Amino acid sequence: MKWNKCLLFLIGSLLIITNVTAQIKPAGTFSFNAGWKFFPGDAAAADPAFNDNTWRQLDLPHDWSIELPFDSTSPTGTGGGALRGGIGWYRKTFTVPASEKEKRVAILFDGVYRNSEVWINGHYLGKRPNGYISFQYELTPYVNFGNASNVIAVKVDNSQQPNSRWYSGSGIYRNVWLTITGKTHVAQWGTYLTTPEVTDKKATAHLRITVNLPAGKNQTVVAATTIYNSGGVEVAKLSSPLTPVQDTTVTLTQKFVINNPVLWSVDRPYLYKAVINIISNGKTVDQYTTPFGVRYFSFDADKGFFLNGKHVKITGVCNHHDLGCLGTAVNTRALERQLQILKGMGINGIRTSHNPPAPELLNLCDKMGFIVMDEAFDMWKQEKNRYDYHLDFDQWYKKDLEDQVVRDRNHPAVFMWSIGNEIQEQWKKGDDTSGAGILRDLHNIVKGLDDRPTVTANNETNPWNVLLHANVTDMIGYNYNHHRWSADSVQKTWGRKPFIITESASALQTRGSYDMPSDSIRRWPLRWDLPVEGANADLTCSAYENCSAPWGGTHIETLKHFLKNDNVSGMFIWTGFDYIGEPTPYPWPARSSYFGIVDLAGFPKDAYYLYQSVFTTNNVLHLFPHWNWKPGETIDMWAYYNNADEVELFINGKSQGVKRKTGDDLHVMWRVKYEPGNVKAVSRKNGKLVMTKEIRTAGAPAKIILTADRSNIKANGEDLSFVTVKIVDRDGNPVPNANDLIIFKIKGEGVIAGVDNGYQADLSSFKADNKKAFRGLALAVVQSNRKAGQIMLTATAAGLQGATIVINAK
Ligand code: GAL
Repeated sequence: MKWNKCLLFLIGSLLIITNVTAQIKPAGTFSFNAGWKFFPGDAAAADPAFNDNTWRQLDLPHDWSIELPFDSTSPTGTGGGALRGGIGWYRKTFTVPASEKEKRVAILFDGVYRNSEVWINGHYLGKRPNGYISFQYELTPYVNFGNASNVIAVKVDNSQQPNSRWYSGSGIYRNVWLTITGKTHVAQWGTYLTTPEVTDKKATAHLRITVNLPAGKNQTVVAATTIYNSGGVEVAKLSSPLTPVQDTTVTLTQKFVINNPVLWSVDRPYLYKAVINIISNGKTVDQYTTPFGVRYFSFDADKGFFLNGKHVKITGVCNHHDLGCLGTAVNTRALERQLQILKGMGINGIRTSHNPPAPELLNLCDKMGFIVMDEAFDMWKQEKNRYDYHLDFDQWYKKDLEDQVVRDRNHPAVFMWSIGNEIQEQWKKGDDTSGAGILRDLHNIVKGLDDRPTVTANNETNPWNVLLHANVTDMIGYNYNHHRWSADSVQKTWGRKPFIITESASALQTRGSYDMPSDSIRRWPLRWDLPVEGANADLTCSAYENCSAPWGGTHIETLKHFLKNDNVSGMFIWTGFDYIGEPTPYPWPARSSYFGIVDLAGFPKDAYYLYQSVFTTNNVLHLFPHWNWKPGETIDMWAYYNNADEVELFINGKSQGVKRKTGDDLHVMWRVKYEPGNVKAVSRKNGKLVMTKEIRTAGAPAKIILTADRSNIKANGEDLSFVTVKIVDRDGNPVPNANDLIIFKIKGEGVIAGVDNGYQADLSSFKADNKKAFRGLALAVVQSNRKAGQIMLTATAAGLQGATIVINAK
């Protein structure tokens, strides 16, 4: 087994594949991301003789749209982020040593947006329209072994626009893997691990293994599996001979007992792994690893969600897949940072709106303890956009959905399958109730592969919703409609079924922007003076708790309904992070959404602390807004707090009174007159001090402060350090409205992967070496190259004292 691992590792290094992955992956699976050529246009590049010398060299994952300028005439519209799509080609030239001639070679794409077509050495491998699904092609029959080179060519066609309601990105934006195994091997996603019986004392794990074998060969095949706990200690073991061996596909199930199992939960996401060695005629020909968790759960129509027998309220968010200034090019550290920020506010659930996610996201959710609603579609046969997936639905839905479920079903983090978001077939057109048929079909596809509950996300909650009326899915999912969340209302209409809020709120905020008065709730149009289009328009939305889409509600409004209804097993707030595209209701130049609880750069908006004060047990006292106003102006000071029974506010030492939340209040407020100096909140419990928060009037911008989220990163060409730029006055007070232009310079073993400030209507590039601060903050994302050493980032601005920060790449 060890020998085999070594050999496969060696093979990986021998190929012209520089980037051998050290992650837990099936043995013989190697990153195929390095050393591609890219051309932004159409070309006759499938031909292996095509000369790509002048093409740009790059490493995947890659999103070409994020590199383009924002463009008011882009057919993607501001909904698509005002960034163009188009056609692009990728090529990679590589060799495979002659010693591998008897092996099987396959290429796996985690996701290509969209309409990818792939060739090897001029041989057409296939097309995959869906931009979010993973797919594999076998290369074996077409590979040149030995010195002759091979060319993989990939055409990506994202030219028909609009095809998305949000920013999709363009290109091979997820990872690509090359797998080399023996011809007898575990099939693609060929394991299915379930834990049908779980108690504190004992769990059973059933592992179904599908093995592919060459036809007509007489061989003895053994599947030898070992289960390891998270410390790498062997906890169970089994060897099963496979018969008959004449078939080309064999399936077997191994049953294990795990004594005293450690259960997977959101607080302790404990992972085991099953490592299978496929042994043919005495030799290990494939090794395949399946990480898994041991847990059980149930949904109850009246009482909600139970994980391992304990009640857990799912406090989730919806997210789209872009990573802000990095575009959609997947990056594990960027995803991990998002999840860490969300965990910090008490989030324990993620909805992969509205498409299959990157595998790295699910791996992180497994490790970090998130409850995932894994979603397949934003539309079925009826379109939302002229060129969207509805055109491909008939031909591809079955394959796409099956592949998603088979790929993702071993993840302990996955708890539900959403088979559609706000599907137009909710409403019948004339006599057409075909939506019910499609729903049944999709539900049955899922159920044939996995027994986790199905759900659809419905914005129509009236009895004429064709999909809910069909009574097919295991759960009832509502988008919005918070006045109808009670058990009474749901069960009167749809019967006693588990109930979940698949989407809520759609509240809008721009970080650090405040319109007075704060207590009038406004649906859009949010501002009576909504500006006309123009590059200098102020397209900010007040970060007070008072703006929301008409179909949604403010954070506070919806949170109250969430808390008071026990039948609500969970809710996924729209959205955790701002995302590129869908700046509704704002016009150009707004180009990214306002719905996030955290802005596009990763800086929390005020709503973050509202949820933190409710969803976590850490002490929270958040006071806002800032303290730089016109003398005499009337200002609403708000506080979110917990673990205390009162908060007192002081302005320049003078008490403005004590406030207490009463009833279902989630905040307190003082309407005060501004005077320069300081404002301070003090929270107390039983008269004893819990926390204080002070904000001081800031003077003119004087200095830049740089803070890195991590000062040691891996020298692997992928890892990131997120550096926050804060503008402060000469006494170190943050300057709330500073908008100085920051110029970055980088030296050493790294590059600037992106810059941002979180403002939804900023039209400067994410890929430049400068960014104007917005409301006192900016962000630079530093990425290692492959060399170990120091990275020095310097930030300067006219008239300010600059700063330098050192990051070590190891
Ligand atoms: C929902 C939809 C989301 C997003 C949101 C904005 O109706 O499911 O994708 O568009 O509205 O409020």
